[in-house]
Amino acid sequence: MEKVTLTINGNQVQVPSNYTVLEAAKEAGIDIPTLCYLKDINEVGACRVCLVEVEGARSLQASCVLPVSEGMVVRTNTKKVRETVKNVVELILANHNRECLTCFRNKNCELQTLTEELGIEDIPYQGEKRPGTVDDKSHSIVRDASKCILCGRCVNVCKNVQGIGILDFTNRGFYTEVAPAFDVSMADAPCIYCGQCIVACPVGALREKTDIERIWDAIDNPDVHVIVQTAPAVRAA
Ligand code: FES
Repeated sequence: MEKVTLTINGNQVQVPSNYTVLEAAKEAGIDIPTLCYLKDINEVGACRVCLVEVEGARSLQASCVLPVSEGMVVRTNTKKVRETVKNVVELILANHNRECLTCFRNKNCELQTLTEELGIEDIPYQGEKRPGTVDDKSHSIVRDASKCILCGRCVNVCKNVQGIGILDFTNRGFYTEVAPAFDVSMADAPCIYCGQCIVACPVGALREKTDIERIWDAIDNPDVHVIVQTAPAVRAA
């Protein structure tokens, strides 16, 4: 593969010409924060958390979808980049259900980690929030749209890795949601409950139903056959 040389934060880096700036930075040991990016699965430039400054470009560029080119000069840590990325995360948080203390992803959430790393304590934007539907009808997966950041990671893992494709973007603009088509529940969609969407989700928008919830389901509906799965290693501890 042909190689190109570019400069990132003053360091010369030589990488294959099919690399993105994000991959080149990683090769050079430079960390660029990401949120929607999932290597080879979701490289769509949706969240804009990975913005960098490129000499000669009029605006900041999303490094996860920006191909490298010969002689490119990139800066990842300027005041402009830091302030803009902080602003981007503040805007994502403004429309996010921030009840982190009761969220199952508390302390294991990519958005929460990023918020702490950027030193965000208050959200300056307090506008209307997207109506967040909660779909807990299936026996296995709970989808909480109030926590969804519309990164598309679950959509692409369901469609392109698992080959199922029951999740996609529905509605438009402010009302966009990730859900099965035609507003049906996960219970009525041809979901195989592989759980890969949960693994791909960077926040708490998708989660596995707890055993207690499954038991409540069984009490509410005795016709439903409920399987309570156990995790022996965890249970034994
Ligand atoms: Fe690059 Fe989201 S990580 S745009």
